[in-house]
Amino acid sequence: MTQSPVHVTVTGAAGQVAYSLLFRIASGQLLGPDTPIVLRLLDIEPAMGALEGVAMELDDCAFPLLSDMVLTADPNEGFDNASWALLVGAMLRKQGMERGDLLTMNGGIFGPQGQAIANRANADVRVLVVGNPCNTNCLIARANAPEIPDDRWFAMTRLDENRAKAQLAQKAGVPVSQVTNMTIWGNHSATQYPDAKHARINGRPAYDVIEDHAWLEGEFITKVQQRGAEIIKARGVSSAASAANAAMDCVVSLAAGTPDGDWTSVGVIGHGEYGVPEGLVFSYPVASDGTSWHVVEGLDLDAEAQARLQKTTEELLQEKEMVQGLL
Ligand code: NAD
Ligand code: LMR
Repeated sequence: MTQSPVHVTVTGAAGQVAYSLLFRIASGQLLGPDTPIVLRLLDIEPAMGALEGVAMELDDCAFPLLSDMVLTADPNEGFDNASWALLVGAMLRKQGMERGDLLTMNGGIFGPQGQAIANRANADVRVLVVGNPCNTNCLIARANAPEIPDDRWFAMTRLDENRAKAQLAQKAGVPVSQVTNMTIWGNHSATQYPDAKHARINGRPAYDVIEDHAWLEGEFITKVQQRGAEIIKARGVSSAASAANAAMDCVVSLAAGTPDGDWTSVGVIGHGEYGVPEGLVFSYPVASDGTSWHVVEGLDLDAEAQARLQKTTEELLQEKEMVQGLL
């Protein structure tokens, strides 16, 4: 019997991240080669013309798994029946705008989207927030959908994880596939803590393989923290293809499972793990069996790591404070 299609919603569907994401989803790389997909493409009214063009291109790929597309500016229609909701669309920071303004404006997007997800999505819906500031946007959406359990909400730090793995692999002179157990702690921002202390290279501690510990504790961390800004400086716009790739990787890790002994990094609703205040969307090491997931606990954090966790926690608490009225 043919499987019935799974509805996948992508917001900001006319934008640049989506342009690198939609074709991969429709080709079957997200949910596998046996799962037909309905793409629900949500954007705002002024973007509908461009979105029509993207839909034409999707048609022109003749993807066998793409059973239908819905183009809409209405969040209720956008999230109808969705089993996966990838919240990519967000307001970008413009000149003169304060961080607080951006947070509040995005609250105006993610609050109603949370409500629409609660009202219309499928009972099994899982939500990955990519649009920045993704941890706090996720918190806002989640707060507006109290019916949906905590374990369905995710904020994307996989791009940071992938960046960190690439840096470690290059330094060690090994293929990137040999780098595992890479944790990004905290916020998807410059306060994040890319943790090489628990990373492994070909099964060995990264600290044993890479002898330049000054690099691991200095340049490596700064490079990963600043990589988004470095890309913006070089390209003039923010990362897109690598962000889309990370969204694919993140969903695949959650939906298909992480390898035994390994984990992925993703922002989740915390329940006090590692001393972080409950309820923040905090990036942790997360292991998944494809059905359920858990934060990997028991990793030793030395004083320096704890100070870094504290710093990124404080930033997330400040962001939460700024959007308190939206929660
Ligand atoms: P973009 O400007 O190209 O596209 C954004 C799209 O969102 C536009 O089509 C816009 O019309 C749409 N949009 C705006 N308001 C909307 C709403 N209310 N509902 C639906 N759609 C709406 O931006 P982009 O380069 O595609 O980036 C999208 C977001 O992803 C940004 O917030 C960016 O900072 C973020 N991002 C996150 C990561 C990460 O690692 N978490 C990495 C890269 C980019
Ligand atoms: C990235 O990490 O590349 C992006 O989140 C940067 C940005 O601000 O869009």
